[in-house]
Amino acid sequence: MTSFLEDFWYAAATSEELGPAPVGRVICGRSVVIFRDEAGSPVILGDRCPHRSAPLHLGRVCDGRIKCPYHGLVFDKTGLCVEAPNDSGLGFRTPTYVAAEKWGFIWVFFGKAENADPALIPNLWYMDHPQWNSFAGHLAEPIPWQLMADNLLDLSHVPVTHAGTIGASVGADAEIPLFQRTKRGVRNTLRSRNATCPPHIAHWGGFISNINTFAVADWEPPNVIVLSVEIDNHELVPLGQENKIGVMVGFPLTPADEGSFHHFYTWGRNFHLDDKDMDTFAKMSMAAVQEEDLVIIKGQYELLKRHGFPRTASYTFDGGVNAAHETLDKLLRAQATRKASNYETPWYLRYHDAQIHSLMA
Ligand code: FES
Ligand SMILES: [Fe+2]
Repeated sequence: MTSFLEDFWYAAATSEELGPAPVGRVICGRSVVIFRDEAGSPVILGDRCPHRSAPLHLGRVCDGRIKCPYHGLVFDKTGLCVEAPNDSGLGFRTPTYVAAEKWGFIWVFFGKAENADPALIPNLWYMDHPQWNSFAGHLAEPIPWQLMADNLLDLSHVPVTHAGTIGASVGADAEIPLFQRTKRGVRNTLRSRNATCPPHIAHWGGFISNINTFAVADWEPPNVIVLSVEIDNHELVPLGQENKIGVMVGFPLTPADEGSFHHFYTWGRNFHLDDKDMDTFAKMSMAAVQEEDLVIIKGQYELLKRHGFPRTASYTFDGGVNAAHETLDKLLRAQATRKASNYETPWYLRYHDAQIHSLMA
């Protein structure tokens, strides 16, 4: 059975993509239409017209209300049909969901409205901080969302998968990623010192020799990962030639259904803020890195579909992935108990108890 956590905010669209036209999207198995009301505030309704199931997102928005493209019923922001060509259909309803706009995203909340606390929207602070230059984007991917989350929860792939872009080679004094529980989720930390500088990082910071990197990846349910990365060349170049830059990369991942997800992403920098060429390079860099990951994850999913879902061998760097899986599994189980519905751990949430406990100790 498809199950997703309900009492969490999910990114539904970027603010930028929600112009005058409505956006249709499948989120957590629900078909929704997203548009703006007369005041510009986001509205999220069920996409299925209650008359004969035409997709409302193919209709038009006028004065903050949406008109079905089939027979013309008009729905207000509460989901109520308030206008009908023949007065037939007045009072029909489509579901309405709690919507909010923050950090350059439209967010949706499917749980009880009284639990929809905007303070719990994932903290993507760099998206509107004056000392950071940030952008957001969206890709639709035909892959289960957890495979992407697992990739982002495990920084040990970075030097390998991203060797040609952002993957700093791990030097001799690299430390094992530090895995910790946090108040809201899981934290992975990776530090490397005196590492070979990969091409994209060299371009960002003008580094011409080795670098030190310090990356902290914070994960929280339902599957939001925010990476804070500091890069410098302190003690590796003569005094006065040192440089230090910061990059924030955040992924408020959203499931469409069991087999596909919305790859929402953000990327921010605290250097060359007004440099248009750097804007272009940063977007190219983000796209290149995503492609490097997605090629592997798509191949991984094909093999998992064809050959089943084995319990994989335990691996040193899987602590964060295992802890996140354990957290999600417990939350989903608790939700199912509250709703008196059946629950079975999905194949993509397998974890190794022994390793979690040993790493927590
Ligand atoms: S299907 Fe929407 S008005 Fe008929
Ligand atoms: Fe990656």
